[in-house]
Amino acid sequence: MIPDLSFIHRFVPGSSEGTLLLLHGTGGDENQLLALGRELDPKATLLSPRGQVQENGSLRFFRRLAEGVFDMDDLEERTNDLADFTLAAAERYTLNPARIVAVGYSNGANIAASILLRRPKVLRTAILLRAMVPFMPETLPDLRGAQIWIGGGKQDAIIPRANTERLAELLSGAGAEVTARFFDAGHALTNTELVLAQRWLKERWPNDSLTNFG
Ligand code: MLT
Repeated sequence: MIPDLSFIHRFVPGSSEGTLLLLHGTGGDENQLLALGRELDPKATLLSPRGQVQENGSLRFFRRLAEGVFDMDDLEERTNDLADFTLAAAERYTLNPARIVAVGYSNGANIAASILLRRPKVLRTAILLRAMVPFMPETLPDLRGAQIWIGGGKQDAIIPRANTERLAELLSGAGAEVTARFFDAGHALTNTELVLAQRWLKERWPNDSLTNFG
């Protein structure tokens, strides 16, 4: 049976086995990270769902009560929904589940971190751009073998560096191999970090090709 894909999404076929699961930030949509994804990996398939929560007209992946204060019940439900969508899309589009890399920005990075902590079998590789601790798990998941690159902004007023550092510690405490880098930047991404993330991704699968940012 063909699984039902519960999220509106963009699907852009690629020419390698890799898939980037692109997770936009608050106020973005399924188109926001397509160009970035294509730069990160010119051959990957791009799978880009649209967040299902509206906040004053801005799309997000889960509800929050205030900036950085999350609705934990909603986060749990939406995390499971997105994890299930990812599995269903892998089946529908015959993607290699082991080659799905989450690339999340801000709210999208936070739900990717939440999937890693709650549904660790669904995602094994992730690039988290401006992420924070989404919730504290009661027991640590088993993330041995998972590989995670984290990019933070030293002057980010929305995601404090200390919070991103706590996330890096949490994920590495669960066994993941974590690379966390901080840049002279605020909440917006820099070209430097995208080049580094691109290089890191390329090192994971050296037989895929590489393009240059700007
Ligand atoms: C969140 O709500 O996930 C974070 O505060 C980041 C944001 O989306 O502004």
